[in-house]
Amino acid sequence: MVAPLKVGIAGLGTVGAEVVRLIEQQSRTLSSRCGRPVRVVAVTARSKAKKRGLDLHGIGWAKTPLELASDPSIDCFVELMGGAGEPALSAIETALKSGKSVVTANKALIAKHGLKLAKAAEQFGGALNFEAAVGAAIPIVKTLREGLAGTAINRVYGILNGTCNYILTRMEQEGLSFAECLKDAQRLGYAEANPSFDVDGHDTAQKLAILASLAFGTRVSQGAVYVEGISSIAPEDLRAAAELGYRVKLLGVAVRTAKGIEQRVHPTMVPKTSSIAQVMGVTNAVTIDGEGIPPITLVGPGAGGAATASAVVADIADVARGIRALPFGRPVEKLRAIEKAPMERHEGGYYIRLMARDLAGTAATIATRLAEQKISIESIVQRHADGVDAVQMAGKAAPVPVILITYATSEDAVYRALDAVQRDKVISGRPQVIRIEKN
Ligand SMILES: NC(=O)c1ccc[n+]([C@@H]2O[C@H](COP(=O)([O-])OP(=O)(O)OC[C@H]3O[C@@H](n4cnc5c(N)ncnc54)[C@H](OP(=O)(O)O)[C@@H]3O)[C@@H](O)[C@H]2O)c1
Repeated sequence: MVAPLKVGIAGLGTVGAEVVRLIEQQSRTLSSRCGRPVRVVAVTARSKAKKRGLDLHGIGWAKTPLELASDPSIDCFVELMGGAGEPALSAIETALKSGKSVVTANKALIAKHGLKLAKAAEQFGGALNFEAAVGAAIPIVKTLREGLAGTAINRVYGILNGTCNYILTRMEQEGLSFAECLKDAQRLGYAEANPSFDVDGHDTAQKLAILASLAFGTRVSQGAVYVEGISSIAPEDLRAAAELGYRVKLLGVAVRTAKGIEQRVHPTMVPKTSSIAQVMGVTNAVTIDGEGIPPITLVGPGAGGAATASAVVADIADVARGIRALPFGRPVEKLRAIEKAPMERHEGGYYIRLMARDLAGTAATIATRLAEQKISIESIVQRHADGVDAVQMAGKAAPVPVILITYATSEDAVYRALDAVQRDKVISGRPQVIRIEKN
């Protein structure tokens, strides 16, 4: 009989408890799929006394994560505590340095210290698997690292934060404000009491930095991601987007451009017909544009104990099978440094919503200012809230929304044109600008 893979798990919360359950429930299947049994032999958490609904009979309890990581009786250390620093960092380093393989779901840690840990894995011969760190149950890490190892990747983009997608979906479907939907998300447990990490785009940025490294062979760098959240999105933007054939999603986009790799997180208009536009609620999705193949979109649950445990156990199964891929698909020393792409050089289509003061003169002024910057307009919608045709409002004081969709242009040009329009004093307030991502 082949020796079992002996697993130690640090962290028995939402994910850790499900991992213990899943390994128990799937023990026969895992054994036949991996060619050897997988056994949890020791665990640890902050409180030994806490009721977790788990049968830990016959499983050892380590006093600390570090003690578990250095336990010579385990082959694979599974880190499910979270946090970008201690004790997860030292525990993982200790496990790797003693030649063990490591599985983690910790995106914060991988985004910050992934390269250092990957180097230790390379040096000491263990695996460092982190499938659950991005998109939970969606096997996106494996797809980029292994499934598409022979394909040049041009772009990878996705909905990587369920909280934001839930908020945008409710705003669109029910015409509610951002604040109302955020409150509901908090009540339902989809958003934290301090929601900034999610709604300001930082959670998406951590995941995108990991995906960009896998896709483009760049060093993981959260600091090189341009980040903008969803709090400025208004229900009227979602209504206008729908009328023009678009939906608004918070996307993380990593794309190869003539000027280098661009990594950005921001509210994005996507064509209603695209696969990514169909993804509603807390669901996540990632689309990959590979050279010579049509886009591949993976859709699934991006959070939750069971969904995340599914990916963690798959990573453990790889260790049991003896499969060891380089953590970022290439040796760490071959990964290239990446700079933050200046967004003023970004090129694409734009949605612009302006509140026009004097419509008769304004339309011509706006058109002139855009033309001066060589910006072509794909479509324009002018209307008054009560349905009166905008042109009839000429000369009236009440501002009127004017919505423009541009053809591809540079961000620099858009803001130069809008600055000029603002100096002309024909609009009130700040224009709303949303980038468009075409499929
Ligand atoms: N939840 C999700 O949907 C999800 C999705 C994808 C990825 N992840 C990632 O999975 C990881 C775990 O998330 P989670 O939601 O399961 O977190 P959680 O419910 O808060 O559980 C954390 C666990 O770690 C233990 N722990 C925390 N600090 C510790 C310490 N200093 N020493 C020993 N044990 C410690 C806690 O012990 P006690 O129970 O005794 O307090 C708890 O069991 C995180 O990296 C997270 O980003 C989670």
